[in-house]
This record gives sequence, structure tokens and C-alpha cells, in this order.
Amino acid sequence: MTQNCAIVTGAARGIGLATTDLFLELGWQVAMLDWDEAELKAAAESRTGVLTLPYDMSDPAQVTTAVGETLAWSGRIDALINNAGVAEFGPIRDCSHAQWRRVMDTNLDGTFLCSQACIEPLAATKGAIVNIASISGLRASTLRVAYGTSKAAVIHMTKQYAAELGEQGIRVNCVAPGPVRTKLAMAVHSPEIIAAYHDAIPLNRYGSERELAEAIVFLASDKASYITGQVLAVDGGFDSTGVGLPALRSVVEAETA
Ligand SMILES: NC(=O)c1ccc[n+]([C@@H]2O[C@H](COP(=O)([O-])OP(=O)(O)OC[C@H]3O[C@@H](n4cnc5c(N)ncnc54)[C@H](O)[C@@H]3O)[C@@H](O)[C@H]2O)c1
Repeated sequence: MTQNCAIVTGAARGIGLATTDLFLELGWQVAMLDWDEAELKAAAESRTGVLTLPYDMSDPAQVTTAVGETLAWSGRIDALINNAGVAEFGPIRDCSHAQWRRVMDTNLDGTFLCSQACIEPLAATKGAIVNIASISGLRASTLRVAYGTSKAAVIHMTKQYAAELGEQGIRVNCVAPGPVRTKLAMAVHSPEIIAAYHDAIPLNRYGSERELAEAIVFLASDKASYITGQVLAVDGGFDSTGVGLPALRSVVEAETA
């Protein structure tokens, strides 16, 4: 039987690496794309059934090369996981144009370019795209003018792609993760932000890379064969909750003290 093949961007660590591992467990081949060549090689060394693509997903020529190398290696692409992302937090007045562009280049342009480059091979397999946005793209919050806006755009672009590619049998969905303790998050989550997230999340904790991978791989698989154009928040309930949770917690704490 021919093995399915997924391209996972940002696969050297974090959510991308957990997603790679889950695909491998299910018998897929994985083309791991990441611009951090050293970390990518280290991650690939201990895994079989993987191809390394040490490229920048925001560069059109490098994306073309990556897709070509994947097809030469596996002969097919069944899923594209647009997971690579960069986060920079700061007040709007301090966000330089260079910083704004850095965030948009990877999070938005990269997602657009990889998806566009995979249309033909995905049409051949009736495959799927899963974009990784963020709860910061669903709800505004402070310090995330570039990051939150890039992720909101990814959510809308998911629907644009789903609308246009459905006829070719390609499904396009989006996962919006809540906080996960990866290198990306820990670089921008201060102790105050961590405490605020715990308070605002009904499940009262950060998610794990594996919990995100489970949702991503489900949406990429045939089990989700009639789901397209959707955004799934994997966030412990953060997005569904309004005001009052911290107050409720303090009441419960007082009662159980
Ligand atoms: N960790 C969280 O709390 C969280 C929350 C919401 C959304 N997300 C999103 O999940 C995705 C994965 O994040 P993570 O936390 O695992 O981050 P991470 O920093 O651990 O991993 C991201 C990987 O992407 C790679 N990368 C970045 N830009 C690239 C580019 N232009 N080309 C190729 N590779 C590139 C990095 O080298 C890195 O290995 C991101 O899109 C992020 O925005 C994460």
C-alpha cells in the first residue's frame, strides 16, 4: 500500500514536531520543513520515514524547491500542515515596520505560498490543508498587533482556500491553539501573562503539544472527510468564555479554604 505523505512546516520543535510524531505513529511519511537547519537535523536523526527541508516558508523559490523535493521523495502529498510561525509581542507604538513584516512574512505570506504551491499535488490525492492560527486571531488582546492580525488573516484565508478548492476535493481547515509551553510561547509569555491565561481558561492550564497534534492530524485525515472551512479552537475553553471566570474561581477557593 502507498504511504500517505504530509508536509509539516515548523517541524523542528514544538507543535510541529509533535504533529510529525503523530503522523509517523499512524504510518505516514513526513517532509519536515524548518529554517532552523541544526534543530531540524537533530530532530530528524532519531526518526525514520522523514525528509528534511531546511527552507524558509516565506520565500517563494524555497517553497517551490521544498514541494519539488517532497514529490521526488514520496511521489505524493496528502496533507500540508502550515504550522511554522513567529511571535513578537509589544505595544502598537513600538511595532516597527520591520517587525510587522517579519511576523506577516512567515505567518501570513508563508501560509499562502505553501498552500498555493501544494494545490496540484493535493488535488491529485484529494488531500487536506490544516493552517495553525491562534486564539490571538479569534480575540484581540494587548501587545499582539502584528501577531494577532496575522493569525486573524490566516483564519479568513482558510475560508478563502476552502471555498475555492472544495471542487477539487481539497479540504482546508484551521486549528487555533490556546497557550502551549513551547519555545515560541515561553519567549513572549511573562509570569503575569501565564497567570492571566490560567485564570481565563476554564480548564485552568496550558495545553500540550500532543493535544494540539491530535486535533491537527484529525482534521488532516479522512476521518474529517466532510469538514472544510472550519476553525477549531484547541484552547481549554478560552475562546468560548466571557467575563466572570476569575471571580467564580475566587468564590470556589473561598468556599473550599
Ligand atoms: N505555543 C503557543 O502557545 C501557541 C499558541 C497559539 C498558536 N501557536 C502557533 O502554533 C504554531 C507552532 O508554534 P510553536 O509554539 O510550536 O512554536 P516553536 O517556536 O516552538 O516552533 C516553530 C517552528 O517554526 C520554525 N519557523 C519559523 N518561521 C519559519 C519560516 N519562515 N520558515 C521555516 N520555519 C520557520 C521555527 O524555526 C520553529 O522550529 C505557530 O504558528 C504559532 O503561532 C502557538
